[in-house]
Amino acid sequence: MTGQIADHYGRLAATYDDHWTHDPEYVRGVVRAMSGALRLHPGDAIADVGCGTGLYTRQLADDVAPLRPIVCVDPTPAMLDQVPATPALRPVLASAEDVASGRVSLPLPGPFDAIVVKEAIHHVTDRAGTLRGLAGLLSDHGRMLVVMLPRTIGHPLFAAAHDRFTELQPDPADVAEAIATTGLRASVSYRTFHVAIDRERYVRMLEARYMSVLGEFSEAELAEGIAQFRHAYREEPVLRFEDHFAFVTGWVRPA
Ligand SMILES: C[S@@+](CC[C@H](N)C(=O)[O-])C[C@H]1O[C@@H](n2cnc3c(N)ncnc32)[C@H](O)[C@@H]1O
Repeated sequence: MTGQIADHYGRLAATYDDHWTHDPEYVRGVVRAMSGALRLHPGDAIADVGCGTGLYTRQLADDVAPLRPIVCVDPTPAMLDQVPATPALRPVLASAEDVASGRVSLPLPGPFDAIVVKEAIHHVTDRAGTLRGLAGLLSDHGRMLVVMLPRTIGHPLFAAAHDRFTELQPDPADVAEAIATTGLRASVSYRTFHVAIDRERYVRMLEARYMSVLGEFSEAELAEGIAQFRHAYREEPVLRFEDHFAFVTGWVRPA
């Protein structure tokens, strides 16, 4: 993880959850879609790699009620500190690369039936090698789900942020290809979630750099972007947009 990304999430950690809890149905809907895509059931051993504060992992634990704790992996101490202390979640301070390479071993014995990587794959430097390593942790009925934004998004960012996002964001098709190369049966599908959010609340999210791409801008550039945003949405006290996520799945092939 670069110093810039570590600093970004170190700063964002305390307010991260506030940004996505304005509509409790949003997190619930995303998690329902995730557990549906992986066909999770209580007997599964589950890991959430790049779990952040565990905002989605908590809901996953509530929905699926797995018999073993969900292993919550993240390299940012301040994010992981927000994971609630509950027997249902087992935090591990590590990156996806650490876990995939075996540098850090996970606290549950045996292979995993389901590995989730939500909105973290863009931070992984060696994506092909890391996905190969994660695939190697799966059981013989294991599956993997990478949830990621596509390269163009509907969030009401200012123009320079959209451009930079597109430059940085990996293509879900490339992630699917990397997963297929590991030998898993890979596919990509898309899910759409509707977001309605007060404009002033969204301004606070921009100020807090709620997306890591906003960390690419200086204070002055961000202020200029927010001014452009305010002008563009001056007649919309409530912003409505569609959040499209790519769900890239990989299933272990039957022997
Ligand atoms: C946008 S947040 C997503 C957190 C959580 N999955 C969610 O959806 O709320 C990205 C997370 O990826 C983590 N991260 C950064 N580099 C990583 C890496 N190399 N491996 C795993 N996670 C990483 C950050 O610490 C941060 O918590």
